[in-house]
Amino acid sequence: MFFKKILFLQIAIVYLLGSSIEPIPQTVDYNYEKALLGKKLFFDPILSKDSSISCATCHDLNNGGDDGLKFSVGIDGQEGDINAPTVLNSFFNFRQFWDGRAHNLEEQALGPIENPIEMGHDFATLVEKLKTTTYNKDFKKIYIDGITKENLADAIAEFEKTLITPNSAFDRFLRGDETAITSFEKEGYELFRSKGCISCHNGVNIGGNLYSKFGMIVDIDSKHLGKYNITKNEWDKYYFKVPSLRNISLTAPYFHDGRYDNLKDAVKTMSLVQLGRPITEKEIEKIVAFLKTLNGELIIIK
Ligand code: HEC
Ligand code: HEC
Repeated sequence: MFFKKILFLQIAIVYLLGSSIEPIPQTVDYNYEKALLGKKLFFDPILSKDSSISCATCHDLNNGGDDGLKFSVGIDGQEGDINAPTVLNSFFNFRQFWDGRAHNLEEQALGPIENPIEMGHDFATLVEKLKTTTYNKDFKKIYIDGITKENLADAIAEFEKTLITPNSAFDRFLRGDETAITSFEKEGYELFRSKGCISCHNGVNIGGNLYSKFGMIVDIDSKHLGKYNITKNEWDKYYFKVPSLRNISLTAPYFHDGRYDNLKDAVKTMSLVQLGRPITEKEIEKIVAFLKTLNGELIIIK
């Protein structure tokens, strides 16, 4: 009941203030030298214990920024139990990971390297290994203290800042180009607003700026506990960072456990469990059409 009231208030506020989706800026500030080094690291399997897996293995930049799998596969063929989110536009998220345990991209980058089922490395060994390669020179050129755990994370995070996808059809529409999206897609956007999706999925990333319960109005099964992992507060159970909907049609399967392989099921579930409202097949089609206008342009630095 309490949550229902909060959500109702959230939707009412959004309605009063009007739309709150903002276009992705054309550029963000970043340090080119660091980003280029970060790019090299991002694609380099040397970061994993057996030199078999790079960040790009699970975050394919040409495929929406994830791996298209329900669960990613790390070193020695080990499968995880949570769906890989996209790295595209992750710079705009207020926290990183589904449960938000990393405060920023620097903190996040250290996670997979030491995760035993992802890259399985320890930093002392990795730093020594990198010192025997051309990375030694590369780092010294940029960082006075050369290769350290912090500098490694700093360079990778700098590259990730460049992974933004501006100029989606919808952003062009927001900037005033009325013809950038069709009337069917526009109706989808109207439904996205009027039904209240936008109360959680808003801002530049159309998500990524708040936590919400998975199953806000109607309970839904979830093995993962979300933010509770960090706080151990009962009321944080099943609260996840609201995911970005940018490029969403490229990043199936959906939800933190990859339970659906198509957007229609994801939209239908959202309407039922987050908003407690039935939704027609036609409405779902319109919203999905709108979601497909959110694919932007990615320019990978050279
Ligand atoms: C074995 C697959 C795998 C590898 C390798 C991997 N990731 Fe991930 N990545 C994931 C999964 C799975 C998650 C979600 C984990 C969670 O939320 O608990 C994730 C989450 C992220 C996020 C958070 C995005 C968000 O919206 O919360 C970023 C950013 C990211 N990874 C970047 C990287 C970088 C940089 C590297 C290399 C240093 C890397 N990943 C290596 C699978 C992988
Ligand atoms: C009360 C907040 C809230 C509302 C309202 C809401 N969502 Fe979500 N949405 C979430 C959360 C939280 C998740 C992540 C769920 C999970 O996987 O644990 C999510 C996930 C999604 C996903 C899957 C994203 C991915 O990367 O897997 C889609 C698609 C989506 N929402 C679309 C919608 C649409 C369309 C509506 C309106 C019908 C809507 N949402 C309403 C909070 C909300």
